[in-house]
Amino acid sequence: MKSIVLAGGSGTRLWPLSREKNPKQFLKLKERSFFQDTILRCLEVSDISEIFIVTNESQKFFVLGQIEELGYEIPKDNLLLEPIGRNTLPAISYGIYEIKKRFGKSVVGIFSSDHILDKNAMVTIRNAELLASEYLLTFGIVPTSPHTGYGYIKPSIPLGIGFKVSEFKEKPDMSDARKYIQEGCLWNSGMFLFDTDLYFKELKKHAPDIYDIFQTLEDVGKIYERMPSISIDYGIMEKSDHVAVVKIEDRWSDLGNFNAIYEEFDKDENSNVIYNCDYELINSSGNLIYSKLDKIVSLIDTNNMIVIDTPDALLVCPKESSQKVKEVVSNLKEKE
Ligand code: GDD
Ligand code: MG
Repeated sequence: MKSIVLAGGSGTRLWPLSREKNPKQFLKLKERSFFQDTILRCLEVSDISEIFIVTNESQKFFVLGQIEELGYEIPKDNLLLEPIGRNTLPAISYGIYEIKKRFGKSVVGIFSSDHILDKNAMVTIRNAELLASEYLLTFGIVPTSPHTGYGYIKPSIPLGIGFKVSEFKEKPDMSDARKYIQEGCLWNSGMFLFDTDLYFKELKKHAPDIYDIFQTLEDVGKIYERMPSISIDYGIMEKSDHVAVVKIEDRWSDLGNFNAIYEEFDKDENSNVIYNCDYELINSSGNLIYSKLDKIVSLIDTNNMIVIDTPDALLVCPKESSQKVKEVVSNLKEKE
């Protein structure tokens, strides 16, 4: 199996830790970055020469440096640099286009670089390969809350180790998310398995503008000038009736916001997560505190808050508002 790693997003909900020039997939909150863990997972199913990374010029050095730290060297041509980010449908199409050109018809795993996932899941992904010639495969997670940041997948009739999908809904509102959970839907993990030929057939049917752009033999710079911006989820998965899902039972987390980061780390006796700083807490619980500075952080009578202190920006918000952090980034961008 070939692998595509998507590493072009900026992770705005983890501002100010994650920045345009230092995006979340490359942050090392633990021993390795999320990107490095993704590469190690891909190596369970692909040789290093079969892993393609779709990213951009400004992230190229993180990619190369962090792969080298793992003790691997990726062929130069496997680094696909987008001149501008146009979301995941163009990024995946670019990767699959290059793989088809170099290896012919292949089965390709698509992996986001901003997840925590148990390595065992790669066994399930490898076992799903048989279904890929007939279905666009997605991997489903049993939901734990009506989260509105995910895609919802409705499984229907069984197909080998998976199910045919009768509906795929990307990022529904809260009341629909509740309804989908009651109906037994799964979350979309953001990982896919595509046969190159079936993928281009479905791309031609559902996003003919993007398909046509990839048929021209122009260079990537020119191609991206005309590229619409759309995700794989809205562009193909919601529309295609050749979708199947395979359930992933292993531990998975999308580190989409600070609440998810809070869940991921060890807590003290008052359920505080304190990352890398000195502290003095009085009657405070359920907080996430991050400060890399040589500084003492003190909270008094403060519960369920996020406090992220970096050299040039400070974020303070209730944990339940952590999904809104991206609004700060877009407001700051407008002011630039
Ligand atoms: N190369 C490249 N170019 N990569 C990109 C781009 C781009 O323009 N945009 C996003 N990515 C990368 C991100 O770095 C991330 O690794 C992955 O593609 C997914 O993009 P996100 O922007 O993080 O998507 P999402 O989290 O909102 O939604 C997706 O993932 C959810 C699970 O985490 C969807 O697939 C949802 O359906 C799914 O539930
Ligand atoms: Mg994501």
